[in-house]
Amino acid sequence: MKEPGAQIDKRRGQYMTNSAVQDRPRSPDTGQAPLLRLEGLTLGAGGNAVVEDVTLDAAAGEMVGLVGESGCGKSVTALAILRLLAEPQIRPTAGRVMLDGRDLLSLPMRDMEGVRGNDVAMIFQEPMTSLNPVLTVGDQVSEAILLHRDVSRAGAMEAAEAMLAKVGLPAPHRALGRYPHEMSGGQRQRVMIAIALACGPRLLVADEPTTALDVTVQAQILDLLDDLRRETGMAVLLITHDLGVVAQYCDRVAVMYGGRIVEQAPADALFAHPRHRYSQALLATMPASNPPGARLPAIAGLVPPPGKRPPGCAYHPRCAHPVESCAARMPPLAPATGAPDHSVRCWNPA
Ligand SMILES: Nc1ncnc2c1ncn2[C@@H]1O[C@H](COP(=O)(O)OP(=O)(O)OP(=O)(O)O)[C@@H](O)[C@H]1O
Ligand SMILES: [Mg+2]
Repeated sequence: MKEPGAQIDKRRGQYMTNSAVQDRPRSPDTGQAPLLRLEGLTLGAGGNAVVEDVTLDAAAGEMVGLVGESGCGKSVTALAILRLLAEPQIRPTAGRVMLDGRDLLSLPMRDMEGVRGNDVAMIFQEPMTSLNPVLTVGDQVSEAILLHRDVSRAGAMEAAEAMLAKVGLPAPHRALGRYPHEMSGGQRQRVMIAIALACGPRLLVADEPTTALDVTVQAQILDLLDDLRRETGMAVLLITHDLGVVAQYCDRVAVMYGGRIVEQAPADALFAHPRHRYSQALLATMPASNPPGARLPAIAGLVPPPGKRPPGCAYHPRCAHPVESCAARMPPLAPATGAPDHSVRCWNPA
């Protein structure tokens, strides 16, 4: 008899690029309240809602993927979690960011500084813009440790070396005295991860952490994050354009379009049966969905910017299967038929 999950694994496997990772065990479902819960998060800029009604969970040890075309609101959502938005130009106008039962949006900024680094850390796409070019790697990693831990400067430097070794930087002792420009992109991203992890955050928000890296280094960095979350129980919110990466590493995935979550599901379920027409189209654009050498399909048109979103479902002008309601009313994010942990915001789901 066939195993029930075999078909799904086969389908999902088709999107994976590194076969070694296919056999990794997924995170167990602990049934606990999630560590992070975004509840109806809405971000406004210049009178327009940039991100609307985003509800998203991440449990301890879980890796959750956030995907969607450029401009759909992934980065601003990530920045809102850490209260790093360029306020007042863009700011939360509704909803909550609950971390372990505490609403980060209502914390005084001073308390928020304690949360950053201690509880939540973030890594960005291009490490060179986040590292200080005139300080050594040792100074920068040990600085992060000194900020949050009661240790001597020498103790912090020792901890920095241990952290660099943990993130797989070759010759970590020598690396302490080097400057960011003396390192490769992959090495710099490891330094950034070391800084982010220096104080053992419970949540790591990673905004396209490997987009600037070649595929081999990309796999090394993602494997590292995957190992760390299994080892330490850290939750990871992974923002990426790359659905292959999501298929390989994420337990669950949320698809954003035009500032809203349009589909959310366990990764297996999403890859086996995408329900939203946008998710379907997005999956169809992946090289793994097409025969070798074939011209990849593109989704015609562009993501509408905030303020230019059409009424109803923002995707309907680009959708291949619209029905009458699509232009008239915004569909709710509702459980998909026969799949309570799979939700979709579509009047005519697949
Ligand atoms: N400081 C700001 N003030 C006003 N609007 C902003 C600000 N920052 C971002 N936006 C707008 O928010 C929308 C979402 O931007 P965001 O950077 O989150 O997209 P993204 O999904 O991360 O895209 P990409 O995949 O290209 O990184 C865009 O329309 C952008 O113009
Ligand atoms: Mg972004």
